[in-house]
Amino acid sequence: MSRPILLGPEALAALLHRIGGEIARDHPDGVVLVGVLKGALLFLADLVRAIPDIPVEVDFIAISRFAPDSGRVRITQDVQIDIAGRDVVIVEDIVDTGLTLSYLSAQLAARGPRTLDVAALLDRVSRRIVPEPVRYRGVELDDGFVLGYGLHYRDLYRNLPFVAVGDLDEVRERPDVYVSELYGASATWRSERAGGG
Ligand code: IMP
Ligand code: MG
Repeated sequence: MSRPILLGPEALAALLHRIGGEIARDHPDGVVLVGVLKGALLFLADLVRAIPDIPVEVDFIAISRFAPDSGRVRITQDVQIDIAGRDVVIVEDIVDTGLTLSYLSAQLAARGPRTLDVAALLDRVSRRIVPEPVRYRGVELDDGFVLGYGLHYRDLYRNLPFVAVGDLDEVRERPDVYVSELYGASATWRSERAGGG
C-alpha cells in the first residue's frame, strides 16, 4: 500500500514561489518572519529563500500544548526581535482549529507590530473553531492527518521532503506505522534525483 502524497517537491516549490512573491510584494520595506517551532521549520527555511529582494528577518516562537483541544498553550521559547512597529508574518505548518494561532496572534499583537499576518503551508478551514484568517496559504486541506515536511507524529516524519496523508487512528496505535513506507518513498525519490533519473 502506498500513502498518497499531498504535496511533493514540485508542488512545494510552486507554492513557495507564489507565497514568497506575495510576501515580497506586500512588504517592500521588509518583514519579520516568526516561525512556530518545530513544525514550521522546513516551510520557513524554504520560504525565506523564496522571498526575493526585500529585507527579511527571521525569529522563532515555541509553544507547548498543555491541555489538548482547549487552546490553552504556553510559550516555551519567545521571539528575540523587538516587533513593535514592524511588519510581522507568523509562519505555521498547519492551521486546524485556529486555537494555537489565536493565542499566538494575541500574544504578538500585544507587542504593537505595525501589521501582523499569517502564512501557513496547510489550512484545514473546515475544522476552524476560532476564525483566524490566513493571508498567505499554501493549500486548503479538507480532512486527513498529514505528515512530513516538518509535520510530525511524536516527532517522527518531520524530515520527509514531501507532505503525505496518513490515518490518525492507525498512527496513534502504532506511531511508526508508516516509517518503512514513507521513508522508503523518500529514499526512492532521493536516489532518482541523485541518479539524474
Ligand atoms: P490548531 O490549534 O487546532 O489550529 O492546531 C494547529 C497545530 O496542530 C499545528 O501547528 C500542528 O502542530 C498540529 N496539527 C494539526 N493537524 C495536524 C496534522 O494533520 N498533522 C500534524 N500536526 C497537526
Ligand atoms: Mg504547528
